[in-house]
Amino acid sequence: MTRAVNTWLLFLGFLAIGAVQGASSNNQFPDGFLFGAASGAYQVEGGWNEDGKGESIWDHMLHAHPDFVVEEQNGDVAADSYHLYKEDVSLLKDLEADFYRFSISWPRIMPTGEANNINQPGIDYYNKLINLLVDNGIQPMVTIYHWDLPQWLQDLGGWTNPIIVDYYEDYARVLYENFGDRVKWWLTFNDPGTFMSGYTTKQGMAPSIDKPGVGDYLTAHHVLIAHARAYHLYDERYRATQQGKVSIMLSTDWSEPLTNSTDDAIASERAMQFQTGLFAHPIYSKEGDYPAVVRERVDKNSKAEGRTRSRLPVFSKEMVEYIKGTYDFYGLNYYTSHLVTQMETGNNPSSDRDSGVTSSFDPTWPPSASDWLKVVPWGLRKAINWVDKEYNGPTIFITETGFTDLGTLDDQGRINYFTSHLAEVLKAIHEDGRNVVGYTVWNLMDDFEWLRGYSERFGLHYVNFSDPARPRTAKASSRVMKEIFHTRQLPEEK
Ligand code: NOJ
Repeated sequence: MTRAVNTWLLFLGFLAIGAVQGASSNNQFPDGFLFGAASGAYQVEGGWNEDGKGESIWDHMLHAHPDFVVEEQNGDVAADSYHLYKEDVSLLKDLEADFYRFSISWPRIMPTGEANNINQPGIDYYNKLINLLVDNGIQPMVTIYHWDLPQWLQDLGGWTNPIIVDYYEDYARVLYENFGDRVKWWLTFNDPGTFMSGYTTKQGMAPSIDKPGVGDYLTAHHVLIAHARAYHLYDERYRATQQGKVSIMLSTDWSEPLTNSTDDAIASERAMQFQTGLFAHPIYSKEGDYPAVVRERVDKNSKAEGRTRSRLPVFSKEMVEYIKGTYDFYGLNYYTSHLVTQMETGNNPSSDRDSGVTSSFDPTWPPSASDWLKVVPWGLRKAINWVDKEYNGPTIFITETGFTDLGTLDDQGRINYFTSHLAEVLKAIHEDGRNVVGYTVWNLMDDFEWLRGYSERFGLHYVNFSDPARPRTAKASSRVMKEIFHTRQLPEEK
């Protein structure tokens, strides 16, 4: 089949998500529901300085401070997808995935981050990957920014400098121009709530800048404007011809009240607003702007600290309107849940302290290999329902969920994680009537898990990082997911 025909067929499939049908049984996903797997450029590509790629903040930080990561690991080679992308596509094909969510490395195509300096081999790489996906009937879903800012822009202040929004818009334009004929799914940012923490401590996520309670809110502010710029740019220049969708994906872990007290119910709501509402409220709510409770608490604390202005920047009325409604769906990332209660903890200033909430895990929740990730499937259903209610029923695409172990082929823990979470998605669809249209496995293969290096593994496929050939081997979970992707239903419980 020609690429043009394939693109057309993919597009028809894509249109179908607007009309996900009811399903015959509660075990079955609706017609048009999409299944896929994800990755992030720095976590899998490697080729960190090949063919003209520029330095990213992660390259820069981990070359300067190798000790920040377990066993001094970094993403220089990672899973070597820069060379092995054909294998990645064949894994996806074998899984019968409907889509592949991957990110584009900004410094690979624009080494300094500027649009006057395009690196053609970088463009060629993504063209090859996208074409191969389309040729295999797999829809490309592109994350525009998955945390690997060009270091050149970081030297100008990165996300804390308002000028970043201009550079980001230029970058988005380059992507729409070069890939928008085939890419119909765009995600402006992956989980900004996590990468903004790169501005809160001197040894953490890149760029490791120690300005808690200030640098993170500035980042959030500029990310929201940059997101809206990219959305409007698409709307005004590309949507009519390219007919894709543009949104953002946000961490939407669930905060369960620790007790049934009113205070803990309030704490639960506040925790959701500080984690998710900070980004979601300006985009998805009817009123727009930051959530009132976030505004109020950060303003109050800033005043008490003797500051002349709030640490949380203020949007003009025009900007509130400009950001509001810049979405085509809600990209929901869910991993785990927390028990929350009212308590001021954390250093001053910090967003933790501003939130006035403390969280813990229920000791009965099953563990993973990551101390931050417990298995709480019902939390996903609650998170879906919270988003639905809070933001007036947006179409929800689950853009990440996943489970870590230390690296085993017989990964029963992962199988249990995905089947139990998918069961909750089915309940959200069939029992609660929520409009969930897709589910993404994090991730296709083991990768570089940021500060945890290669020690904690998320993949449906095992990658041997000691072997220069980086061979991929299917884990048991990939067989189970293939069956689900194929039958569009959950296996009956035994
Ligand atoms: C969110 C991020 O998108 C991804 O890069 C990371 O690996 C997973 N969470 C797991 O921590």
